[in-house]
Amino acid sequence: MSLPGSLPTSRVPEPSTAPSIRWGILAPGWIARQFASALAGMTTQRIVAVGSRSLERAQQFAAETGVENAYGSYAELVGDPRVQAVYVASPHSEHAALALLAIEAGKHVLVEKPFARNADEARRVVQAARSRGVTLMEAMWTRFLPRTDIVRQLLEDGVLGELQTTIGDHGQPIWHIERMQRLDLAGGALLDLGVYPVSYTHFVLGRPGSIVATGELTDTGVDRQVAAVLTDFPDHPHARALVSTNMGAKTPTTFAIAGSAARVELDAEFYAPGRVRLVTPDGSAVVSPPDVVAGHYGLAYEAAHFASLVADGYPESPTLPLDDTVAILETMDEIRAQVGVRYPGE
Ligand SMILES: NC(=O)c1ccc[n+]([C@@H]2O[C@H](COP(=O)([O-])OP(=O)(O)OC[C@H]3O[C@@H](n4cnc5c(N)ncnc54)[C@H](OP(=O)(O)O)[C@@H]3O)[C@@H](O)[C@H]2O)c1
Repeated sequence: MSLPGSLPTSRVPEPSTAPSIRWGILAPGWIARQFASALAGMTTQRIVAVGSRSLERAQQFAAETGVENAYGSYAELVGDPRVQAVYVASPHSEHAALALLAIEAGKHVLVEKPFARNADEARRVVQAARSRGVTLMEAMWTRFLPRTDIVRQLLEDGVLGELQTTIGDHGQPIWHIERMQRLDLAGGALLDLGVYPVSYTHFVLGRPGSIVATGELTDTGVDRQVAAVLTDFPDHPHARALVSTNMGAKTPTTFAIAGSAARVELDAEFYAPGRVRLVTPDGSAVVSPPDVVAGHYGLAYEAAHFASLVADGYPESPTLPLDDTVAILETMDEIRAQVGVRYPGE
């Protein structure tokens, strides 16, 4: 097979072209700071309020990021009529309850990954948003990156031939972070890190019919590492997907999609902005130009996409439909069940 001279151009709009909406940040931790700086640097979005469990922490975040209003409770944040959309950036255990709090207050909601602890919680949140008529989306930023749209076009055009194997992993030595260790905060490698290769596998192959998983748990009962093989994809009967995640070691954190005609390779960090490489079985390759954005500035793409949905009155994203978000959690539920991680109340 001869390769195209260049890869498709991303169709993702520049984040600065999205309509500006008024955001409230709920839970001002590490990722909320990355989100605020991506919005400030790359978009015309306005963060008008921040809510923390502590007024002091909310005020500190507001002072650092130039946000006008700081609240010492999440209820006050969602009660602010200036806030149109809430970004939920808490630990995983709180995602569903805080998304419901915001939905009940009539806000549009963007929820950090993983969308919830499990598929049951996710279905409840989706149902609430549909009944309230607000826009809801999982903040799986990878899905909205220009790099991902290049892969999307290669898949749509059948350039890889029949899909055979995907290999994706994500490992970072972050087991010492308290929220990663705690069962009550829904810690563990899979929900925090493994969600990326699981979600990307769903993006490429759809929902698997069968899963075989193995893992190792910490003393606190969360998964330190997990490896899984996903099979029986209705649209890709010959495909096998390998997924691995680890919170005790830095792993390659790459993703490869191998088809009968060619393969795609995404270098580390595959879930972040970067290049796409298309390689033929004989080893010749074509590579996309360097991404214009680096690291967590890439969060601007998901925020811009969400702002456009809100401004245009769409209840959910065609790029990451809520049914896909629920299906990803169903896959993670099955992996966790096989590995033996159960969160309180499950
Ligand atoms: N997209 C990405 O690249 C990315 C990267 C890292 C993390 N994340 C996701 O973002 C979320 C937050 O991660 P993070 O690293 O930002 O965490 P973090 O720094 O610990 O911040 C989480 C915040 O949640 C609030 N919170 C609410 N209930 C809490 C509880 N019971 N225990 C502890 N904190 C609680 C705290 O703020 P207040 O107490 O001040 O309200 C805390 O600052 C997670 O869902 C994670 O998976 C996404």
